Amino acid sequence: MSVEPTGPIKIRLEQIFKAFGEKKVLRGVDLQVHEGESLVILGGSGTGKSVLLKHVIGLLKPDSGTVTVDGTDLASLDYREITHFRRRFGMAFQGGALFDSMDVFHNIAFPLERTRRFNRSQIRARVEECLALVRLEGTEKKAPSELSGGMRRRIGFARAIALEPQILLFDEPTSGLDPVMTAVIDDVILDLKRTLQSTTITITHDMTSAFRIADRLAMLHHGKVIAEASPEGMKNSPDPRVRQFIEGRANGPLNDHPADDPFSDHPADGPLNDTPEEGPSTKTRPPQESP
Ligand SMILES: Nc1ncnc2c1ncn2[C@@H]1O[C@H](COP(=O)(O)OP(=O)(O)O)[C@@H](O)[C@H]1O
Ligand SMILES: [Mg+2]
Repeated sequence: MSVEPTGPIKIRLEQIFKAFGEKKVLRGVDLQVHEGESLVILGGSGTGKSVLLKHVIGLLKPDSGTVTVDGTDLASLDYREITHFRRRFGMAFQGGALFDSMDVFHNIAFPLERTRRFNRSQIRARVEECLALVRLEGTEKKAPSELSGGMRRRIGFARAIALEPQILLFDEPTSGLDPVMTAVIDDVILDLKRTLQSTTITITHDMTSAFRIADRLAMLHHGKVIAEASPEGMKNSPDPRVRQFIEGRANGPLNDHPADDPFSDHPADGPLNDTPEEGPSTKTRPPQESP
């Protein structure tokens, strides 16, 4: 499976190692994302996908290895510089991460107000625009607690795109959404890519969504990128671990202990993998959002 993305490299991860105590989560991750590219990261629950994303924005520091964004090694930035640097990112984390004390309007306006680049009517217009993009027009005055989980997530998404960032990071943006809303979010991602040439990294368990939005996919397993391919390449991958994941099968090599994994070059340490219920599936969707 050969992948030949073009364009300059926007994000480069080299030999990233990260452990929490005894737990070795990332064990030598190498990954590059090109400018304007939409990269999807696949992998079972607890394999370190969110941890990986946090390294890209400098929320976590690797034990070793380098993260480079636009040619800048994040390790070279001090606290103030990294705070500034994060403004080029839009992030939508699992769960939405809204400010509960603010209504929807102020949640989305927050990043716009912080830059001091916009007047009130510009902010109002942009908030409306973002709400329309996620199909939640008219919810400005609602409190996050009045919204369903899926709606909160879409508000988080609207906030992430408010500043039209160069780089968008989405951590499971569609989990818990019904298929229609999933398609809406996918379309927003594709739209941003087309109109802003945003570079995006999306973590998702939803294979329909993954294949819809990805220029390239990378699969994380036992702390390393074990497969990297175009959607076509991924669909035709002979690797049984990739096959199990994209076909959403409960049993297969992904459930094996690393020591038994013939494909693993990191035997021994590490817990057993996901339980079958946690595995991704193209057939069973998570509970749907209630209106
Ligand atoms: N801040 C942290 N401190 C300790 N352990 C963590 C921390 N963040 C993540 N982990 C652990 O790292 C592993 C990978 O987590 P995560 O990246 O969230 O997985 P996922 O692939 O599901 O997103 C998990 O076992 C998790 O418990
Ligand atoms: Mg996660």
